[in-house]
Amino acid sequence: MTPAPSEDLVEPPAPGGGPFEGGASAPGPWGDLEGVGERICVLSDVHGNVYSLEAVLRDIRKVGCDTLVVAGDIAAHGPAPVESVDLIRTLGAITVRGNTDRYLAEGSAPRAGTRDPEQSLSLDWSREQLGADRLRFLGELPPSVTLAGCLVVHGSPGDDERGIWPYTTDADIDAHGWVGTLLCGHTHRPFQRRVAGGEVVNVGSAGWTLDGDPRPSYALLERDRAAAAGSWRVTLRRVDYDRSQPLAELERRQVPWRSAVSHYIETATWRTPAVRALP
Ligand SMILES: [Fe+2]
Repeated sequence: MTPAPSEDLVEPPAPGGGPFEGGASAPGPWGDLEGVGERICVLSDVHGNVYSLEAVLRDIRKVGCDTLVVAGDIAAHGPAPVESVDLIRTLGAITVRGNTDRYLAEGSAPRAGTRDPEQSLSLDWSREQLGADRLRFLGELPPSVTLAGCLVVHGSPGDDERGIWPYTTDADIDAHGWVGTLLCGHTHRPFQRRVAGGEVVNVGSAGWTLDGDPRPSYALLERDRAAAAGSWRVTLRRVDYDRSQPLAELERRQVPWRSAVSHYIETATWRTPAVRALP
């Protein structure tokens, strides 16, 4: 398997291992929701960039949405963790917990350790900004939700640190035995692909993408009445916005690790040249 372009935020799938180890994820407290309407919008990985989130929400209002879903990683590392959490709470979105939401709530760190000490300082800074009530909210989010033929997770079923990449093999994706539409985030690399189990949709990031296109991404799901029950037509959408706002706020608030985050927001690429050279 090709090594993943891993740096700082995400971990590649282990060579030869399936992405779905750890077993099926249980439904969240919402159960298997059917009353979600005809149009679902799914966003992920805001990472405290409330400016890009607001742009994505404007686009969502424009296209129309019955149910809003958030696939985790709301607050960490960006310039506005408090504003991001409060906005998502206000919207009443169906939300699952991402790995960085968990780190913030638990006071923990990535399984493989943190390569950049500044990244740990950034988590500490986000944690201090959020305060106890918002941290409790993040910690109590479920790791997955099922709704109307869709399974929503942050990384992959049963593992919030193990992402599904554009080059993750069909066999690895199907290894879980899940059926329907699998919706995930974490890698900041939006893509969709048909596999034996149905369709896998990585919605990318509403904070900063890492596929070379700095426009935030999200997914619009429209119920496909002509197809089988629980079938959805999926469109990945990109939204432009004024990136100078989060860059200025990272600086003004002196957010730790801001050089990395600014680079991601501006360029949608990895910082390490050797990593950038990978496909
Ligand atoms: Fe994540």
